[in-house]
Amino acid sequence: MIVLDDVTEFALLDELRSELVAVASHELKTPLTTLRMNLMLLGEAADAFTPRQREMLEAALLGCEELGSTTDELLDVARIEAGQLRLDLAPVDLNNILDSALRSLRTRIDDAEVRLEVRRDVPPAIVRGDPTRLRNVMTNLLANALKYSPRGGRVLVEIVFRRDGGADGPVTLQFAVTDAGPGVPEPFRDRVFEKFFRVEHHLDRAQEGVRGTGIGLYLCREVVKAHGGLIWCEPAEGGVGTVVAFRLRAEA
Ligand SMILES: Nc1ncnc2c1ncn2[C@@H]1O[C@H](COP(=O)(O)OP(=O)(O)O)[C@@H](O)[C@H]1O
Ligand SMILES: [Mg+2]
Repeated sequence: MIVLDDVTEFALLDELRSELVAVASHELKTPLTTLRMNLMLLGEAADAFTPRQREMLEAALLGCEELGSTTDELLDVARIEAGQLRLDLAPVDLNNILDSALRSLRTRIDDAEVRLEVRRDVPPAIVRGDPTRLRNVMTNLLANALKYSPRGGRVLVEIVFRRDGGADGPVTLQFAVTDAGPGVPEPFRDRVFEKFFRVEHHLDRAQEGVRGTGIGLYLCREVVKAHGGLIWCEPAEGGVGTVVAFRLRAEA
């Protein structure tokens, strides 16, 4: 069952949100840094802690991390709305960026209990891109696949070369994540890239639905667009699950 949770219709509310986003994200950043630093200092005395206290400290640090990445996302939204998304462009290998994204998701990949399969038929997959931004895009797409996949489901990550429009067409590199989750219904395949747009899936693995802000794919789309690329979502082959992919022009 799908419950649509769409507020973008309400322009005023949207404007209010944007303002809130700009203010809140800056105001959250500083106390969060203090909090994290103090927890880490506390951690230096962890030898004297009981196991229960150590668990509590770990949970507090994890909470900080989550809050930190949500704050970063909000800051990015504010930047984009102010027309200040800047890219640090250099020739980069998508393979290296993927490795780094996978390393940062290691724990989440293990926890999700999915069958992760990585296919890359292109050793040097060079594009002109901002490595930090592209890594964020990959992390977002992978995190969604993990979040919405059933346990034991396959998550396939691919980097492939494509030539569009015949032998003389431009060569592009395509990064795609395929999962076996609930899929995105046809009417929402473009809309999932809108800011704050969410489709709530009721999954077996989560009793109260899956949490999220609806910002991730919006940021992905903005970053890919700024690179001159394309991002889209389509049903997986066989009809079960989703493919979310982006395509960038390959560097010669
Ligand atoms: N792999 C996926 N499978 C099914 N639905 C997805 C997938 N990725 C994204 N979606 C849908 O698109 C919506 C927007 O995604 P996103 O912007 O990442 O927001 P969030 O993950 O915070 O909900 C999600 O609420 C979800 O319903
Ligand atoms: Mg997401």
